[in-house]
Amino acid sequence: MGKVYNVSKNVGLGLLVLAVSALVTIIALSIAYDKQRAKNQGKPGDEADSSSTSLPPTTPFTPKQPWDYYRLPDSLIPHSYNVTLWPRLKPNEDGMYIFTGNSAVVFRCEKETDLIIIHANKLNFTTYFGNHAELSALGRVAVPAIRRTWLVERTQYLVIQLSSKLAAGESYVLHTQFRGELADDLEGFYRSEYMDNGVKTVVATSQMQATYARKAFPCFDEPAMKAVFNVTIIHEHNTMALSNSMEMYSSVYILENTAVIGTVFEPTKRMSTYLLAFIVCQFDFIQSNQSDLLIRIWARRQAIGGGQGNYALNVTRPILQFYEKYYNTTYPLSKSDQIALPDFNAGAMENWGLVTYRETALLYDPVLSSTGNKERVATVISHELAHMWFGNLVTLHWWNDLWLNEGFASYVEYLGVDYVEPTWNIKDQIILYDVQKVFAMDALASSHPLSRKEEEVNKPAEISEMFNTISYSKGAAVLRMLSEFLSEPVFAKGLSSYLNTFAFDNTVHTDLWDHLQTAAENTPGLNIPHTVHEIMNRWTLQMGFPVVTIDTRTGAVSQRHFLLDSAAKVDRPSPYNYTWFVPIKWMKNGVDQQQYWLLQKTDTHSQMRVSGDDWILANTNVSGYFRVNYDADNWGRLLSLLNTNHQVLSVMNRAQIIDDAFNLARAKIIPTTMALRTTKYLSEERDYIPWASALRNLDYYILMFDRTEVYGVLQAYLKKQVRPLFEYFKRTTANWVNIPTGHTDQYNQINAIRMACGMGVEGCKELINSWFRQWMENPNHNPIHPNLKGTVYCSALAFGGVQEWDFAWQMFKNASLASEASRLRSALACTKTPWLLNRYLEYTLDPTKIRKQDATSTIQYIASNVVGMPLAWNFVRAKWSYIFQKYGRGSFSFSNLISGVTVRFSTEFELQELKKFKEENLHVGFGSATMALEQAIEKTTANIKWVTENKAEVLEWFTKETMGGHSR
Ligand SMILES: *[C@@H]1O[C@H](CO)[C@@H](O)[C@H](O)[C@H]1NC(C)=O
Ligand SMILES: *[C@@H]1O[C@H](CO)[C@@H](O)[C@H](O)[C@H]1NC(C)=O
Ligand SMILES: *[C@@H]1O[C@H](CO)[C@@H](O)[C@H](O)[C@H]1NC(C)=O
Ligand SMILES: [Zn+2]
Repeated sequence: MGKVYNVSKNVGLGLLVLAVSALVTIIALSIAYDKQRAKNQGKPGDEADSSSTSLPPTTPFTPKQPWDYYRLPDSLIPHSYNVTLWPRLKPNEDGMYIFTGNSAVVFRCEKETDLIIIHANKLNFTTYFGNHAELSALGRVAVPAIRRTWLVERTQYLVIQLSSKLAAGESYVLHTQFRGELADDLEGFYRSEYMDNGVKTVVATSQMQATYARKAFPCFDEPAMKAVFNVTIIHEHNTMALSNSMEMYSSVYILENTAVIGTVFEPTKRMSTYLLAFIVCQFDFIQSNQSDLLIRIWARRQAIGGGQGNYALNVTRPILQFYEKYYNTTYPLSKSDQIALPDFNAGAMENWGLVTYRETALLYDPVLSSTGNKERVATVISHELAHMWFGNLVTLHWWNDLWLNEGFASYVEYLGVDYVEPTWNIKDQIILYDVQKVFAMDALASSHPLSRKEEEVNKPAEISEMFNTISYSKGAAVLRMLSEFLSEPVFAKGLSSYLNTFAFDNTVHTDLWDHLQTAAENTPGLNIPHTVHEIMNRWTLQMGFPVVTIDTRTGAVSQRHFLLDSAAKVDRPSPYNYTWFVPIKWMKNGVDQQQYWLLQKTDTHSQMRVSGDDWILANTNVSGYFRVNYDADNWGRLLSLLNTNHQVLSVMNRAQIIDDAFNLARAKIIPTTMALRTTKYLSEERDYIPWASALRNLDYYILMFDRTEVYGVLQAYLKKQVRPLFEYFKRTTANWVNIPTGHTDQYNQINAIRMACGMGVEGCKELINSWFRQWMENPNHNPIHPNLKGTVYCSALAFGGVQEWDFAWQMFKNASLASEASRLRSALACTKTPWLLNRYLEYTLDPTKIRKQDATSTIQYIASNVVGMPLAWNFVRAKWSYIFQKYGRGSFSFSNLISGVTVRFSTEFELQELKKFKEENLHVGFGSATMALEQAIEKTTANIKWVTENKAEVLEWFTKETMGGHSR
């Protein structure tokens, strides 16, 4: 799946500076967890499962029967399915939307057995003589009679007990007919609704990953149970049916007194159930048909008519061509459909041949969308298309290796975008949006290793928990490091060999290591100190990452496990004692040196001994997944380099110095003032990536201090630092008439305005207010450039009152472009008026006002506003059980809700409240937010300590800096 970006990157950064809205970092998805509790219906295996909802363990459930286990037995292997589905786009007499269907699955018996266990969830079956299914055989073998059939709710099975055994080596066919609800729950086969020219219109669509295919039809719903699917979709006239493969033909007939169309699709390639997709809609499309590959972009008619699909169509073919070359494998399918859905939980889903997206991740309006929206579209498309090979053609055997699938796509998505938008320098941004982001989480003692053992991941909730920032971003970071030390051609060679070997099949992560190792061995002159397995195990099997310390006075190099809270206790033992094999790219006085491998805890590398004005910078461009510390002398030389001639260092290296310094200071490895000193040169900095890094770190100071007296001097200092940037953009854009040409310069302009307004730079507030006034006076003509809309809306609402709020709400309701709606939704949280914030909080739980997919992120926006935070916290506490039941399931950003509302927590009182909240809601549970709650407690504890230890020093430093004193 694609990441969920609750805040698009350039909109998110620096928002807190205004202390009004939005989270700082992009929030990666973590699928919510299916909280459904089994009801004991007196059937075998139906005991309620206590452990899945974080209840205190009472009577642990012990599996006894095959259907008690979450994993399928290995006795039956599916070969192919006939699946027919008929979604009704109008409610039935009971007001319920339903679908009906039937299925025939051909499977081979590998080991003789008298049990057929197949996944099915929330389906009602038509019974044949009291049984849920019928059985036949493919060959001329005797077919055992069905003795009994039943459903197991806890493990989501249909179980068929036979009166004699199936014969090993023989193939059988299981027939079922069923009926399910086409609910608006965003899981399995579900419905999405929108207004089309004032008419409510329903779309039937699907989301199968990870365990929801079983909610659409009975199937062997595990990624290694690949099969061929012959899909037929029944739908009404004036609707279109889509699925993974190309439509073959359709026929018209009458069913239940309705004239319908049956669209039959080509048999799919051999594939996993979680990649299936079924859609019935009244969308429009645009297409491109060249060299035998049909590419189509689908969306609401109004969106396609408005040209919003054009950008996606333009980049899709080149991105596919890039991957064909990079993987050295042709695109495996005959068509590529991509579709934008009004209701969709994740950012996007890589269904093979029919990729589904949130509208904001696929649609781009050249006039109304911002540069950030465009980048988001390119990035998400690139991510999903990377999966067409890595993930779909070759699939990991089980969910425990999910990090490899998602980490891989999260890494190569940058390569695909770089190919279509070479001027963006997008590859640099990985350090902001993946590496530094995940550093922050992986530096906690409550982190976890990338890789898990297969037997540790069983239940749907455990599978859902795998979709987290560690999997996506740390996965991307360590794969980038691997590609860097092998070199890209070797990495690509191993990859291509892996893909060609395992096409249409399944693998475990070590299969990739094997192929990369072979590629490395076949490359003369490439020396790596250990095998790919041995090196990578240290990064995937132990949590965290090292801080490498270089003492340039002696050339001593050492490593240790980096923890943000140096006093935190690490409970989790590591098979490698928290040491890593660290590939260190480095430079001396600006000249790249030969890569050095740190293979022990301590070592000496005499080339790293320098003196005088000579300086060393290690981990150039953050190509390795680690932080670097130096002796005070070398730190001093790097600081003076920044202050005198920062251009000598690349933007990534500048960002790295800032980010490492701030984090080392948090961990008490270097003084806090040393970190603050890295921001002094910012008055000369004009590039986005270093600014973004600095703002992300300074945001922490803002969060910790915006309710204290430190805030005044902090604000004065930042005002001084940002004013030159604000003036620079004012000058270079001819007084805000033009937009900077550089891609990231556009982002930095946004940061400059947002910071300047937040810190009170003269002229900023007036500028923003006049733009917003003009729009309010003439709502049909919005004079604000799309890039700046997010900032301007937020500031205008922060400075304004109910009139501005109601206007923005009206514009939100009317917005026909999803990204515009999303900007307004975020800006509505920026007001400083408590009753407006409280009313907005209430709106979040009303799906007619805020779409269900957006509820939790809206609460987070409100929480990131300094005025909204206590209101959001009270709201979440008071309504936890309701929110959890209604939104905890199928809500990808659910765990971010907890981190969002607690992000400022830094007092003993708040810690007690948090602990009380945990205790009082144990009976309700926290689902996929369980880990986030633990992290929140750990972070709050660390914040309390940090504020106590640093407040005086920070106050003094900012005071001195703003009084014109020199403290270099
Ligand atoms: C699906 O179609 C393929 C190709 O025509 C065929 O081999 C297979 O048997 C079909 N599956 C079923 C369940 O009939
Ligand atoms: C699957 O559908 C095809 C086409 O309708 C039919 O010929 C075939 O017999 C079906 N397979 C099974 C196993 O029912
Ligand atoms: C399935 O059966 C249950 C129990 O009878 C019923 O409540 C539910 O509405 C049915 N679902 C559908 C989609 O018909
Ligand atoms: Zn993905």
